[in-house]
Amino acid sequence: MAGVEDRVVVVTGAGNGLGREYALLLARGGAKVVVNDLGGARDGSGSDSAVADIVVEEIREAGGQAVANYDTVATEEGAAAIIETALTAFGAVHGVVNNAGILRDKAFHKLDAAEWDLVTRVHLAGGFHVTRQAWPHLREQGFGRIVVATSTSGLYGNFGQANYGAAKSGLVGLVNTLAIEGARHGILANAVAPIAATRMTQDVATAEVLAELPAAHVAPVVGYLMSEECSDSGTVVVAGGGQVHRVQYFQSKGFSFTETPSIDEIAANWSRITDMDAAVPGVNPVG
Ligand code: NAI
Repeated sequence: MAGVEDRVVVVTGAGNGLGREYALLLARGGAKVVVNDLGGARDGSGSDSAVADIVVEEIREAGGQAVANYDTVATEEGAAAIIETALTAFGAVHGVVNNAGILRDKAFHKLDAAEWDLVTRVHLAGGFHVTRQAWPHLREQGFGRIVVATSTSGLYGNFGQANYGAAKSGLVGLVNTLAIEGARHGILANAVAPIAATRMTQDVATAEVLAELPAAHVAPVVGYLMSEECSDSGTVVVAGGGQVHRVQYFQSKGFSFTETPSIDEIAANWSRITDMDAAVPGVNPVG
């Protein structure tokens, strides 16, 4: 694969599903891969170092370079140890794929604070911690690639996934700012909302539908975003089943009030405010 040769890439949650495919593809392209995985269950319980070891073994048997790491992404200490693994084994870190994730789905009226905390800690805080630990190294070398795993559940919402969707949407917010702050340092940050048959989706669709959604279809998109070929930053894509789409916020033409409007004036102009016919991509007016 063009553009990842000899790059040191950390893939979190690379022991299963999508992360495993990302790690295998990047290693086939000549990247040196840190295969991070806590080896827990889908709900985040438990741990098993064999999960990362098996993927490292697979990569080495195919002639690639990889090292395992078993720390959690969800704490500063865990994230520091993950990046330290890259530095110790390969002497550098050039990119991070923030892919590790768990599920604790509940309808919002049943969702408790512990389930909120656990899910946001792994996805959102995990994305922050691992990226934050890599960031000084990326800045210093003037090159870096960050990919976060977002989700259509975060971009569009999904019943029973308030905790997960909020965390996944939060990662897009993180990427929006990393793209701005990384620009001067050759660091690109992008988000992929994958759609793939893994243990995470095994009970949300029929076997026929899942058969059309191999994780391997998503991997080249992540591979491209991690490569030197890529020049995009702050881009969000949805990828699955051989289809890849860009997702972007648009802002309506809106309506300008010359004086502070009343609630009634807002109501009277609501259809003009929300009319998306002449919408343009949104930009931060104070950025
Ligand atoms: P998966 O359950 O097969 O893989 C996730 C991996 O993350 C597991 O190996 C798990 O052990 C690891 N992990 C969990 N918590 C961890 C922690 N604290 N530290 C380190 N590793 C940890 O799931 P899948 O489907 O491969 O998901 C990968 C990513 O893609 C996740 O972030 C998920 O939310 C996201 N995603 C997946 C979709 C799909 O269609 N499969 C849809 C949208 C998003």
